This record gives sequence, C-alpha cells and structure tokens, in this order.
Amino acid sequence: MSVSNTNPEIGVRLTDVAKHFGGVGAANAVSFSLATGHLLALLGPSGCGKTTTLRLIAGFESVDAGTIEIGGQPVAGPGLHRPPEKRRVGMVFQEYALFPHVNVWQNISFGLGKLGAEARRSRVGDVLALVGLTGLGERMPHELSGGQQQRVALARALAPQPDLILLDEPFSNLDAGLRVRVRAEVRAILKQAGATAIFVTHDQEEALSLVDEVAVMLAGRVHQLASPQKLYRQPISREVATFIGDANFVPGFGYGRHIESLLGNLESQVPVEGPVDVLIRPENVEISPAPSEINAHRVRQQLFFGHDQLVSVQLSSGETIDVRLGPAYTFAVNQPVTVRVRGPVMAYRINETQRVG
Ligand SMILES: Nc1ncnc2c1ncn2[C@@H]1O[C@H](COP(=O)(O)OP(=O)(O)O)[C@@H](O)[C@H]1O
Ligand SMILES: [Mg+2]
Repeated sequence: MSVSNTNPEIGVRLTDVAKHFGGVGAANAVSFSLATGHLLALLGPSGCGKTTTLRLIAGFESVDAGTIEIGGQPVAGPGLHRPPEKRRVGMVFQEYALFPHVNVWQNISFGLGKLGAEARRSRVGDVLALVGLTGLGERMPHELSGGQQQRVALARALAPQPDLILLDEPFSNLDAGLRVRVRAEVRAILKQAGATAIFVTHDQEEALSLVDEVAVMLAGRVHQLASPQKLYRQPISREVATFIGDANFVPGFGYGRHIESLLGNLESQVPVEGPVDVLIRPENVEISPAPSEINAHRVRQQLFFGHDQLVSVQLSSGETIDVRLGPAYTFAVNQPVTVRVRGPVMAYRINETQRVG
C-alpha cells in the first residue's frame, strides 16, 4: 500500500498541465497543489479552462503535457493515464445528474458495488445523515427540492470515500436566495467529512465565501493561489486585482514602502520602486466636504444600494474613482470633496513600454 515517493499531505497536485483542442489551448501550464482536507475554488471567467482542468483531474480527458497526482499517487503524465474509475475521485455536476428513475437510496448506493449488502446499507445511512436527509431514502429525485437534490448528489459523490471531490458550478441551478444557504451547508458537510475538494466557479463572491484557498484562472493559467483574504488584499497583478472585487487605480511613484500619489502619501504593503499603478479598493476611501472649491475633487454620481452606496468622485487631475460608503452619507452631485485613502495599499510597477503606449 505505501509507496516511498507518495505524500499523503498533498491531496492533489498539478504540474504544468496542458490541454489543447485543435489549435486552442484550453489549459496552458496549469500548476497548483492542495493540501488534504482543504477546499479550493478554481475561479475564472467563462471559457478560461476551469471545466477542462476538472475533467483532466477526473480522467475524462488525457493531458497533452504535465503531471497530475491525487493523494500522492501519479494519475496522469507522460505515458500515464489512469482511467476515471481508478482515480478515487467523486464528481458533482451543475445539473446534479441524479438517476431520475431510482430513489435517493439507490442513487447513493450506486458507486458502492464493491461493498457487501450490510456495509452498503450502513454507508448509505451514514452519508444520508451527513447531508441531513435521513428518512428521505425512499423519495424519487423529482420529489425533492433543488437544494435537497444537490445534497443527494453530494452524498453520492462522498459515499465511496473518494480521495478528492470535484464540483463543477454546483450552485448555479439554485435561485439566489437558496444559493447562499446551500453553499454554507455544502461547505459544512465537506468539512465534517474531512474531504479534499475543488469547486469550479465563475462567481467570485461564491469562491471567496466558500473555500480555504482560491486559484484565479485567466486564459488557461493559474495566476494566483491564495486564501480569500490574501487574494483580495494582496492581488499579485493588476489583472487579478481587477478580476477580484472592484478596483480603482491611480498613478504614483514608489520609494520602497512609501508611495507618492495623486491622493497623497501612501504606505505600500510591499516595497515598490519607480512609476506604479496604485490599487485602491472603493471601501478603503473616505470622502468629506471640501472646505474650498479650489482644486477640489467632485462627486459625479451616486448609486444607492441600501446596505451601501457607490459614489463616483472625479479627481482634480481628471481621473474618476469609485468610493463605497455606508447608507447614511449624503453628498450632492458636483459637491467638492476631500479624499483620504485608508492604507496600506498594493501598487504595481508600470513597465516602460506600457507607459510610452
Ligand atoms: N471538447 C472540446 N473541444 C473543443 N474545444 C473545447 C472542448 N472543451 C473545451 N473547449 C474549449 O476550451 C476552452 C476552455 O473551456 P472550458 O474548460 O469549458 O472553460 P470554463 O469551464 O472555464 O468555462 C474554451 O475555449 C472551450 O471552447
Ligand atoms: Mg465550465
């Protein structure tokens, strides 16, 4: 059973995995690893290669290059393609893919053929309890709500005790109100089961609120893998910063940890030198009525959402930044304001060719 070069601490590891369809690169050197028992979101816009990456991990597609290990065991690589049924991976799809003509119990016991009847009964009972559906084993799939069907799909994936669970946009069929609750339930179930899991999603709020780590995938590549907090506070590039949350950029000049910018002197989270774009999140800006009209920044627009509002401020230099404020503030359009940035901030070097262009 034990092989000297395996590492049970690593739930899954991809190294430079590539997959092309015709001339199109769906995955280009995808690399990341995930510790056993952790939840990861693969987050990126539609078409960036998320589903392809999951299918490569599951074994439904073979890699063109690179290697994949699951639970410390190589499953794909040069000259190696372990078939899906030998990978100990459970999948949950967007449309749940429950078998419509058999009941919940039979749906869940489907993958447990190797167990004897008694062990199978006990395992199905355990996972039904885990997903909170004890007593509903006799129901047919169409007799369940969307959220319940989702939990059956999860129970079916968990039943054979796989090394890894893969979930492809699992909440997109649920309406918005239900989605938030089901997400939290699914997270709790996976954590209780001690599962290692990868969620694919294009919904950043979902990714940030659901998992331990987020891998941002853009155009077939993982650009950054970090905890939700780190990803939001310290995006590695302008591209990632723009993709995650709302981002304002203002020009500045870095002197190590100190930045001189249009909005005054700022502290940088990481040392930077020379011309930079400074990332300013809307919620890290404060505005107040300006004592004078001279050189003032001006409120241009307000979008009121109830729990907060987004105020566009045109800086005296011409740029516009968005500011997020609580619902109690009222500013008039064209009102002169002063702007204060709450730091420290992230800043990205502007390369010379970019500046000339
Ligand atoms: N079987 C396939 N044949 C040809 N092109 C494909 C196939 N699967 C995916 N692609 C292409 O690969 C790219 C990534 O697709 P996909 O992995 O489904 O992205 P995502 O899940 O992030 O939306 C897209 O350009 C898509 O059209
Ligand atoms: Mg997809």
